Amino acid sequence: MEAYTLKNKVVLITGSSQGIGKATALCFGAQGACIMLNGRNKEKLIKAEKELRLKGLNVDSFCADITNLDNAKKLIDKTINSFGKLDILVNNAGVSMRGKFSNLNSDVFKRVFDINVFASVNLSKLALPYLRNSKGSLVFVSSVAGIRGLPSNSAYCSSKMALRAVAESIRIEEAKSNIHVGLVYVGITEIEKGKTTISENGSLIELEDRSKYRVHSKGHVASRILENIRKRKFITTLTWLGKLNFFMQKFTPILSERILIWANRKVQARSL
Ligand SMILES: NC(=O)c1ccc[n+]([C@@H]2O[C@H](COP(=O)([O-])OP(=O)(O)OC[C@H]3O[C@@H](n4cnc5c(N)ncnc54)[C@H](OP(=O)(O)O)[C@@H]3O)[C@@H](O)[C@H]2O)c1
Repeated sequence: MEAYTLKNKVVLITGSSQGIGKATALCFGAQGACIMLNGRNKEKLIKAEKELRLKGLNVDSFCADITNLDNAKKLIDKTINSFGKLDILVNNAGVSMRGKFSNLNSDVFKRVFDINVFASVNLSKLALPYLRNSKGSLVFVSSVAGIRGLPSNSAYCSSKMALRAVAESIRIEEAKSNIHVGLVYVGITEIEKGKTTISENGSLIELEDRSKYRVHSKGHVASRILENIRKRKFITTLTWLGKLNFFMQKFTPILSERILIWANRKVQARSL
């Protein structure tokens, strides 16, 4: 059997102007893939593109908010015009949120689902004909928070959980076309300075720096996304906490819920 190579594979990574998406672009590009970057902020995107080019990588970019269907179509067209085909789509762009369900501003769920679910779904549908041709890979970047519902994360957990059902359906429907469909449950990872999350009132708030905690590096997450594709795996679960969560949710869901209720009470008591 031929060894898997990314040489000349065309990879579209959404939300790749920073964070895990950019690290994945660097990792895949360094192995010879042609990379299409994407993000909304032009300045940030151009900076990332320049950085990759300076490293000698074959890269292009398309600045767009992919929650808009027209933009999603244009992103696919741009990828095909620039590189002639599409081998891998990594649905990475996403947003998180914080806040107790009963306090959430009414548009928080919509904003989270718009990018985490609907943009991924629309783009995947548009990419399918090209992925069928290349017998390529369709990957969804989920979160260990998508394994079960967690307190203060209802919109985020449910959006990331929805991706599993979408991936399962596509795997069955596309079984004959030999497309690989993968789902990566990412654990807590280092973040870019200034990364924001949606607060319960709908405003964007900056996340606390994680450099003093032992969290996965973005490069490590990128390498596990690559492994998911190379081995054509369905699910890759990162971090020991993610694996424990996965195991407990499957075999001892009631115990898992009791532990979370206890932990949530402790957190609430501390914040009083
Ligand atoms: N970091 C973690 O600890 C962690 C843990 C579990 C799962 N994940 C998942 O991993 C993925 C990446 O996370 P990250 O921490 O690297 O996030 P990040 O640093 O906030 O980067 C998000 C990227 O997505 C882009 N983006 C956001 N909304 C977009 C839109 N509507 N259209 C196009 N691009 C958009 C952002 O650029 P612009 O703002 O310029 O658009 C940026 O390039 C997400 O799906 C996240 O849920 C992360």
